[in-house]
Amino acid sequence: MSVKDEVLKMLENNKGDFFSGATLADELGVSRNAVWKAINTLKNSGYKIDAIPNKGYCLMQDSNILSFQSIRKYLNSQYKDLDIKVYKSISSTNTVLKEFAAAGAPEGTVLVAECQTSGRGRFGRNFHSPSDTGIYFSILLRPSMPANESLFLTTSAAVAVAKSIESVSDCKADIKWVNDVYINDKKVCGILTEGSFNVETGKLDYAIVGIGINVCPPKNGFPEDIKDVAGSVFTREEDSVDSRSKLVAEVLNIFMDYYAHFSEKKFYKEYKERSFLLGREIYVVEGDKTTPATALDLDNECHLIVKFQDGTIKELSSGEVSIKIKNI
Ligand code: BTN
Repeated sequence: MSVKDEVLKMLENNKGDFFSGATLADELGVSRNAVWKAINTLKNSGYKIDAIPNKGYCLMQDSNILSFQSIRKYLNSQYKDLDIKVYKSISSTNTVLKEFAAAGAPEGTVLVAECQTSGRGRFGRNFHSPSDTGIYFSILLRPSMPANESLFLTTSAAVAVAKSIESVSDCKADIKWVNDVYINDKKVCGILTEGSFNVETGKLDYAIVGIGINVCPPKNGFPEDIKDVAGSVFTREEDSVDSRSKLVAEVLNIFMDYYAHFSEKKFYKEYKERSFLLGREIYVVEGDKTTPATALDLDNECHLIVKFQDGTIKELSSGEVSIKIKNI
């Protein structure tokens, strides 16, 4: 680790506490000049560091920059070694992680970004990913599972996100089949799972679970086309300090636990309990066709069972279908 990263680790792990230049230099086994340079580099990158003569340096409580160090401090011990790379801006964490995966990156590689310039959603849609108010991250997995089970990666991630949101806020988080997390009938998170399928083995070579969470309202508001459906976890940015780092870490803690015991499907019960479509009037959208229906149930495979107005009952799998909710 570089001196800058070591200094950041000390300051992040002790946010609000002062360390003299001499203490930091001693702790890290480097010169005071090296510490001073590292502090200046961090300040230039936007970290709010207070420097007071005879007291030293302190990372201020409201410093709110995502970093490996700010996320790692909230990770459970078994996940502290995940290879987490944090970007100020990236095209799309899913797109770039795919390139890493093709080049042989190991399971557990995680890309996190403060902003995406070409964030992607399902069905080739764009995912609005403005800087500083959201978190956008992707997890690389190399599961030994048939491709049709990959739906459970999405559903377990949705439960992990919902639980994590509730651990950092007072909100109640619900799931809209299959990959969206909602608060008060507004979408605050979308999940895009992509993968590479090996034809010979019939299994996945790799899967990438990409998660985008609106933590606060974007500074310029949501774009016109999503402003009626999109929401955020917090309504004011001031309330969200450190929450972005905590959220990333907590989602990883919970999701990786589910993944470690995947065959037990421990997330299924909670996925169903949080599925707020059940019992509601919906529209099933398949290509250009939109059909009214009632969402009846969720089967063990996380297929949505719906009843159309002519009485036909159908089991929907996620691939080609999206759902609109009546009266939202
Ligand atoms: C959807 O709502 O349709 C899914 C949105 C998924 C967005 C996340 S943000 C991180 C990752 N990178 C992307 O380009 N997309 C996913």
